[in-house]
Amino acid sequence: MSKVLYIKGSPRGERSHSVAVTDAFVEAYKKANPGDEVEVLDLFKSQLPAFDGAAVSGKYKIMHGKEHSAEEKQAWAKVTALIEHFKSADKYVLAAPMWNFGIPYRLKQYIDIIVQPGQTFTVDESGNYKGLVTGKPILAVYARGGEYAEGSAGAAFDMQKKYIELILGFIGFTDIRAIVVEPTLAGGGEVAKEKRGAAIEKVRQTASSF
Ligand SMILES: Cc1cc2nc3c(=O)[nH]c(=O)nc-3n(C[C@H](O)[C@H](O)[C@H](O)COP(=O)(O)O)c2cc1C
Repeated sequence: MSKVLYIKGSPRGERSHSVAVTDAFVEAYKKANPGDEVEVLDLFKSQLPAFDGAAVSGKYKIMHGKEHSAEEKQAWAKVTALIEHFKSADKYVLAAPMWNFGIPYRLKQYIDIIVQPGQTFTVDESGNYKGLVTGKPILAVYARGGEYAEGSAGAAFDMQKKYIELILGFIGFTDIRAIVVEPTLAGGGEVAKEKRGAAIEKVRQTASSF
């Protein structure tokens, strides 16, 4: 039995295109894998710990092989709990909206918490970085109001898909699957509906091989 962690990065509920497409994928996945567990982590409804001064100094202490203070220990316990939760999954799906050419702050906060030395990546003595989350697939569903396809004028502005793929690769993912829903705003409601429908069809077909 596998555990799928569904990371929900949009607060827009049923209006969210990335959530609608990811939901359709999860529904098809469950049909194909009835014994598997799917856990939803709704980032806008969860209490994520702040990644503040104590957490940051705790991170540097780890990188420099030093002991944590009591305050850092306390901050780090929350960070570690979230990382353990993240790593407990065998597969991942992510609903990721584009906000200001990047990602929503809650998703960035989650990334800042779980990307940690010794936990999700490591550095050897020569300074080479190595990801520690290996052998697990992820499907990321990206929604954006405009259009940013490779080769288009908008492509250079895409700090959403590019960033997510970079950070996933940094922590060890190699099986990174993507589906993009665009434009969800610039083309009007009908175009958005059509693009969302096409993405839903596509992900339904890929669910059984995930
Ligand atoms: C705060 C905010 C910032 C946004 N910034 C951008 C942007 O930079 N580029 C873009 O194309 N669309 C932008 N949008 C539009 C969203 O990308 C679009 O509505 C998308 O469908 C959101 O994903 P969702 O439907 O899954 O919530 C923004 C929306 C919000 C709420």
